[in-house]
Amino acid sequence: MSALDMLVVAQKTHWGTVDGEPVDLYTISNSSLTTSITNFGACVTSIEAPDENGAKADVVLGFKKLDDYLRDEKTYMGAIAGRYANRIADGTFAIDGSVYHIPSRHRDYALHGGTIGFDRKVWSAAIIPNGVEFTLVSPDGDMGFPGTLTVHVRYTLESSSLRIEYTATTDKPTVVNLTNHSYFNLAGRSGGTVLDHELMLNADRYTPIDAVMIPTGVLAPVSGTPLDFRQSHRIGERIQSEDEQLKLAGGYDHNFVLNGEGLRLAAKAFDPHSGRTLTVSTTEPGVQFYSGNFLDGSVIDSDGRPYEKYAGFCLETQHFPNSPNEAEFPSTILRPGQMLHSTTIFEFGVQE
Ligand code: BGC
Repeated sequence: MSALDMLVVAQKTHWGTVDGEPVDLYTISNSSLTTSITNFGACVTSIEAPDENGAKADVVLGFKKLDDYLRDEKTYMGAIAGRYANRIADGTFAIDGSVYHIPSRHRDYALHGGTIGFDRKVWSAAIIPNGVEFTLVSPDGDMGFPGTLTVHVRYTLESSSLRIEYTATTDKPTVVNLTNHSYFNLAGRSGGTVLDHELMLNADRYTPIDAVMIPTGVLAPVSGTPLDFRQSHRIGERIQSEDEQLKLAGGYDHNFVLNGEGLRLAAKAFDPHSGRTLTVSTTEPGVQFYSGNFLDGSVIDSDGRPYEKYAGFCLETQHFPNSPNEAEFPSTILRPGQMLHSTTIFEFGVQE
């Protein structure tokens, strides 16, 4: 690859204001990819990637206008979810004997950090070599969480990959779980459902859920279930099967326990229509594979098209849901003096 192919260009354009604070759109591109990311929610609004003929399309769901993000309070499209991505049972947990409550729209759990999570915040931003770094200082008591948490999320382009690096520090013991909530559709944003995409997940086990979608605490084998993606399967192949776990979630919406440690392969997806592939690597212990079951056409894209059920799938690299209440799960507690450091890489390509 030549130096010119590696060159990354970043541009900032003003996009609007939220509560008087300026919101910008950062467009980062190299010869392979062009991605736009806003400091509202540190949200990825588009990723243009080539198909097997070199034709580019936007492979994540999103909107062209800031107003559409402000209006959509339920999909978390492209955003950083935090302070605690995914579910905490009853929105309640304890650290060192002190109990904390997170405000929630749901009766049985807090989702993605409470009613005003990191996805709704205006982050500060700086262009850095090969990308953009977003910073958020979440005050002590923000959404009920203890401790001032300083979070940096760095998005950089490396050849045909979008790399996301998360760091966080706190001044009191707290819990943290950060993820990017992009919905992928490798056929393109308006490419219909993702049921024909083939998916491989590097996970022998998953965390089964109860009737309100909270992990039971068990790490169950995927073997013999429709959640076995160790060999590639079409997402739609078994999604309607008579399986209690799929019924509870209306499809796939489960945390998979990734095999191995360190930065390693988490998932591979392939769209047979465009030839595009997505390879996900992460340092996180888990990935929530969510097949867009709750998209129901009520959220409309900026061109007036509804986002229907299964219009995109998420691969949310993360610690396991409800870890603050599960002593056996990898800990999500961050203490003063510690630094959270997490990496996820989304690599785009075409099938050889
Ligand atoms: C959850 C889904 C939820 C979606 C959007 C996902 O991370 O697992 O249940 O509907 O986020 O809110």
